[in-house]
Amino acid sequence: MTILTSPVIPAVVLEDPSRAVDVARALLDGGIGVVEVAARTSASLVSIERIATEVPDIVVGAGTITRTAQAVLAASVGAAFVASAGPTPALLDGILATGIPYLPGCSTAGEAMELQERGLTEVRFFPAEAAGGPAYLGALEGPLPRLRFCATGGITLENAARYLALPNVDAVGGTWIAPADLIKAHDWATITDNARRAVQQLSHRAA
Ligand code: 3PG
Repeated sequence: MTILTSPVIPAVVLEDPSRAVDVARALLDGGIGVVEVAARTSASLVSIERIATEVPDIVVGAGTITRTAQAVLAASVGAAFVASAGPTPALLDGILATGIPYLPGCSTAGEAMELQERGLTEVRFFPAEAAGGPAYLGALEGPLPRLRFCATGGITLENAARYLALPNVDAVGGTWIAPADLIKAHDWATITDNARRAVQQLSHRAA
């Protein structure tokens, strides 16, 4: 399965599962067909399950995975892919053995090389802005031409285009489209508007 099918992958942190379906619908209304639910709240599993069941037109994934068991649980309730901030040998061994589509993070050339050695082609550059930004990520293209990246961590509508202009970047991810304050305020209209603007301004940027 190709994970990086959308140039924009919104990340959402849900503290209350009753908001999950509305967030997913707001993103879909804005033209985005994928959402990554951070698996760092107690609401994440139920949220993933509700989105997968009630909003089947959106692809839902689980982010912030730190243990293989979490990935297995997330997939069992409907997560189509899982993502992590970085690679650890245990997580790579464990998740790759399950066959669950996996987008591991990396922030250095060495980590990226390890992921390539493991046979991965789609990976995350995290935390993108703090780890060197577009200059660092773009410099990985020469030595690691087979890796396709999703840049995540500190991405905004203002800086996203600089990543998507890189030849080795297929997507950007982040919380700026559906941030916690808008979710808490049930401001679905602004989330839809953020999604629409992201699609309008960024869709043509990716290869
Ligand atoms: C997260 O850590 O939840 C995201 O992957 C990145 O978050 P940010 O877009 O707020 O930096």
